[in-house]
Amino acid sequence: MSTFSAPKGTYDLLPPDSAQFLAVREALSAPLQRAGYGYAETPGFEHTKLFSRGVGESTDIVSKEMYTLTTKGGTELALRPEGTASVLRAALEANLHRGGLPVKLWYSGSYYRYERPQAGRYRHFSQVGAEALGAEDPALDAELIILAHDAYRSLGLRNFRILLNSLGDKECRPVYRAALQDYLRRLDLDDETRRRIEINPLRVLDDKREGVQRQLADAPMMRDHLCEGCKAYHEQVRELLRDAEVAFEDDLRLVRGLDYYTRTTFEFVHDGLGSQSAVGGGGRYDGLSQMLGGPELPSVGWALGVDRTVLALRAEGIALDLPRTTEVYAVPLGDQARQVLFRAVTALRREGVAADFAYGGKGLKNAMKSANRSGARFAMVLGERDLAEGIIQVKNLESGEQLPVPLDRVVAEVRAKVG
Ligand code: HAM
Repeated sequence: MSTFSAPKGTYDLLPPDSAQFLAVREALSAPLQRAGYGYAETPGFEHTKLFSRGVGESTDIVSKEMYTLTTKGGTELALRPEGTASVLRAALEANLHRGGLPVKLWYSGSYYRYERPQAGRYRHFSQVGAEALGAEDPALDAELIILAHDAYRSLGLRNFRILLNSLGDKECRPVYRAALQDYLRRLDLDDETRRRIEINPLRVLDDKREGVQRQLADAPMMRDHLCEGCKAYHEQVRELLRDAEVAFEDDLRLVRGLDYYTRTTFEFVHDGLGSQSAVGGGGRYDGLSQMLGGPELPSVGWALGVDRTVLALRAEGIALDLPRTTEVYAVPLGDQARQVLFRAVTALRREGVAADFAYGGKGLKNAMKSANRSGARFAMVLGERDLAEGIIQVKNLESGEQLPVPLDRVVAEVRAKVG
C-alpha cells in the first residue's frame, strides 16, 4: 500500500488485464487501417473554446463534465472530453482538406469527463475513434458502421445491437426543433427541463425518467419532419448496411449527447452492461468545420469505448487468445552460469524470441516457480556441472521433458523449438 490511491473514477491498467486491453485497442483499430484511415494523434488538452463551440455549450459534456484549467499565462485549457473536435481542428490547421477528400483519420487515446462514476463510467477512459472528413456520401457513413461492426465481431462479441437514426440537416432540423419545442412547452416538467427545452429540446427526448417519458408518447418525431434530401440519404445508408448484412434497429429517439450531429447518428449498445450500455457511437457532423471557423466540410465519424468493450467481452465470457509474453525462461545456478545464460537470453531476444531471466539470484525452486508463472513453454537451466560439460538443460514446461543442448547451439535450437 502507498499513501496514495488512484483518483476517484479512474483505475490502473496492470498485467495481466492490461494485455487484454491492448489487444482490444488493436482489434478496434485494425479494420480502419485496412480501409485507408491514417493515424492521427492530438494533444491531451486543447483550448476550452474548441469544445464549448464544437461539442456545444448546452451539452452535459461541456457544461458539467469538462476538466478545465487556467495556465500561469492565463490561457484557458481543457482536458479533451472527446476526440472529434480535436481531430478536425488538427486537420484544418494542417490544411489536410486541401488535398484529396475525404481525409480519413483514426486515433486512440485517453479522454476525460467529470462524470458520476459507476460501473462502465469513468472519469478517465479510452477510445478508438475514426473521422472521415469532407465528403457527403452515404457509403462513407455505411463504411464506418460496417467497420465498427466488423471490429466487434472480430473480438467474438455477439450481444450488441446497432441503433440508427437521422437527425436531419440545416433545412429540416430547425422546423422540427420548433415543432418539438411547441409540444414540450405544454408538458408538466421541472425548471431544469424547461430550460433545456429552450436550449437543446432534442435532449429532452433522451430523458430517462418515467414521468417524462410518459408525457413524450405523442411527441413529434424527427423522422416525420425529414426533408426529401435527408430521407433519401438515410434510406441509402440503410440499404448499404442491409447489403453488407449488418443488422440495425431504427431508433427514432436516438439523440446523442453532443450538439454537432446532423443526419446519420448511431450507437452500438451491448446488452450485458446494465445502464452504461453504449460501447460506441457516432454520426455525421456536416456543420462542425464551419463552427470551428473552417470551410464547409461534411464529415462523419465514430468513437468506440475501449473500457466498455473490455467489459462487454467479460460479460460474454470471452477471453482473447493472446500471444505469450514469455516463451523461454532462463534459470542460472551460480555466477558463471549467470553470465553465459544472460548472453543466451540477449541473443534469443535479438532473434525475436520472447525470453526472460531469473533475476535476483533465486535458488532453483524459486526460479522454476517464476518460470511457470511467466507462462513460458521452455526453461533453460544452467548449473555448474552443465557449464563444465558445455551444455544447457532445455526443459519443456508443458510435458516436463528435459534435453541437454550444446551451449553453442542453444540459441538456434530453442528458436526452432519455439517456432
Ligand atoms: P460518445 O458517445 O460521447 O461520442 O463516446 C463514445 C464512446 O466512448 C461511448 O459509446 C462509450 O463507449 C465511451 N465513453 C464515453 N464516456 C465514457 C466514460 N465516462 N467512461 C467510459 N467510457 C465512456 C464521442 O465521443 C464522439 N466524439 C464520437 C464521434 C466521433 N462522433 C463523430 N465522430
